[in-house]
Amino acid sequence: MDDRLKGKSALVTGAGPGIGHAICLALAQAGATVTAVARNRENLERLAGAMPSGAHRCWSIDLETDAGCALLAERLREGEVPVIVVNNLHVPSPKTRLRNLSAEAFSSGFTANIDHLFFILEPVLAAQHAQGYGRWIGISSMAARAGMPGQGRYNAQKAAMEALLTTLAVEEGHHGVTANCVALGYMETPSVVARVPEAVRTKLAAANALGRGGTAAQVADAVLFLSSPGSAYITGQVLAVDGGASLAWNFK
Ligand SMILES: NC(=O)c1ccc[n+]([C@@H]2O[C@H](COP(=O)([O-])OP(=O)(O)OC[C@H]3O[C@@H](n4cnc5c(N)ncnc54)[C@H](OP(=O)(O)O)[C@@H]3O)[C@@H](O)[C@H]2O)c1
Repeated sequence: MDDRLKGKSALVTGAGPGIGHAICLALAQAGATVTAVARNRENLERLAGAMPSGAHRCWSIDLETDAGCALLAERLREGEVPVIVVNNLHVPSPKTRLRNLSAEAFSSGFTANIDHLFFILEPVLAAQHAQGYGRWIGISSMAARAGMPGQGRYNAQKAAMEALLTTLAVEEGHHGVTANCVALGYMETPSVVARVPEAVRTKLAAANALGRGGTAAQVADAVLFLSSPGSAYITGQVLAVDGGASLAWNFK
């Protein structure tokens, strides 16, 4: 039995189907008590039923609003405050080239994927300092560096999250706190399968060294490692989980 996270409390935001769900399962299976946050209640109920028994909490909260972020912080303060935070949240961005993006469309909600981190920062850091153990993990994308056309705002949002967590790594490292990101390539999640035409997905799957798309469980494995004591000397890093796609494009 994997008990690497026994006695640890973990928060996963963006805990809907796909990567968020897989991360919650992996952390719970390793012994963590998981607090999962997304909006869709049915998906959260499915997640609650799938996790091994424990004092897990599945909360439907809209983290795109300040009120939702404040509610999350308030609820966390009422119970066990997590020392592991996984930010998998992705509020969709407009899909358009930069030249067609208005200043308003660029800046409105630009920080929507990371705002909640500021609302919970103080109680989470207090718990991490008290336990001498803390993990911040951001689910990023190779898009943060690859300049994917037509998704400039998303690319910039992921880069901003990486910079934020790097800063946290430097500022909090002396307290046993690490902060890292995983930068994903093409992952075959329900949301991608629903949004991206099959022909495009076939091309994406071929455009990496392994010649296939990744799975949510493979992301969860990387996150589990970064959450666990075994990653104690790794901080401020961006780990590519992309089948080698960031090495070069057009493998075939
Ligand atoms: N799949 C890929 O190929 C790929 C590649 C690179 C990076 N990523 C990153 O991996 C992460 C997961 O991606 P995914 O493909 O599994 O699916 P996704 O649809 O991007 O996941 C987004 C998650 O955020 C939640 N969410 C969205 N708006 C929210 C809000 N206002 N308040 C609270 N929760 C909200 C969604 O649940 P609800 O709708 O229930 O709220 C869902 O669980 C994302 O951060 C994405 O950017 C994915």
